[in-house]
Amino acid sequence: MNEQIKSQKPESAPIIEMKDIEKHFGNIIALAGVSFDVRPGECHCLLGDNGAGKSTFIKTMSGVHKPTKGTVTLDGKEMHFASTRDAMEAGIATVFQDLAMIPLMSVTRNFFMGREPTKGWGPFRRFDIEMANEVTMEEMRKMGINLRGPDQAVGTLSGGERQTVAIARAVYFGAKVLILDEPTSALGVRQTSNVLATIDRVRKQGVGVVFISHNVRHALAVGDRFTVLNRGQTLGTAKRGEITASELQDLMAGGQELADLEGSLGGTV
Ligand SMILES: Nc1ncnc2c1ncn2[C@@H]1O[C@H](COP(=O)(O)OP(=O)(O)OP(=O)(O)O)[C@@H](O)[C@H]1O
Ligand SMILES: [Mg+2]
Repeated sequence: MNEQIKSQKPESAPIIEMKDIEKHFGNIIALAGVSFDVRPGECHCLLGDNGAGKSTFIKTMSGVHKPTKGTVTLDGKEMHFASTRDAMEAGIATVFQDLAMIPLMSVTRNFFMGREPTKGWGPFRRFDIEMANEVTMEEMRKMGINLRGPDQAVGTLSGGERQTVAIARAVYFGAKVLILDEPTSALGVRQTSNVLATIDRVRKQGVGVVFISHNVRHALAVGDRFTVLNRGQTLGTAKRGEITASELQDLMAGGQELADLEGSLGGTV
């Protein structure tokens, strides 16, 4: 059995299970009953065109939105996240496209932002920079990035390296489920392949990855399963090897093309 097949672990129970999730914003039905689960050590890709509901869906997963209907189960227990902090404490980390990093600050400072380790006690308590530097260098090295030094500013890293800092940070702080919202959409070919390699590393550590993308090729390069969203509904989930790039592309495009046609024909289709 090769490495790839072993990493799929089709038999393991899901870490997180979203069932029949609906999200309404007033009259707008952004999600109309979406089910999706993530198993340890897999990369489950969520694909769909603009406005399909991808971001809304992961926001119900990460505690930003409460679902109008449906259930979220983590390790077999039903959850009602009140906030993103709640979801993070339960082990669901999201890396958003803007990454929430400060370019002029060092990689270490960004890595530990808001969670600085301290040493000493009482009035002598202070940021343990040595420890933070060591951890940052080591965690980045594990992800295949050799920093010039821990004080290197995040702004001097490439886009792909910055994504990797955000991913390494989430994993270091205990993510069981890592949600990546379009991590490759702004990257060139080489940086994309670095980020895909990072996803593969994280998956091999047993983290369940949700990879959101518009790009079928990026998804197919790293995904174990693929779910396509279209206007708030799932068009089903396929396993690696069960679906081709052109089939995925058709699923993603189909609904939209129909909508365009409806529009241009005055809603008669
Ligand atoms: N807070 C909100 N209030 C009202 N409507 C919303 C809200 N958030 C999302 N929507 C609507 O829900 C639908 C799905 O949007 P969503 O952002 O989830 O799509 P997406 O698949 O992430 O698209 P993209 O690829 O462009 O990021 C859209 O019609 C959008 O206008
Ligand atoms: Mg979105």
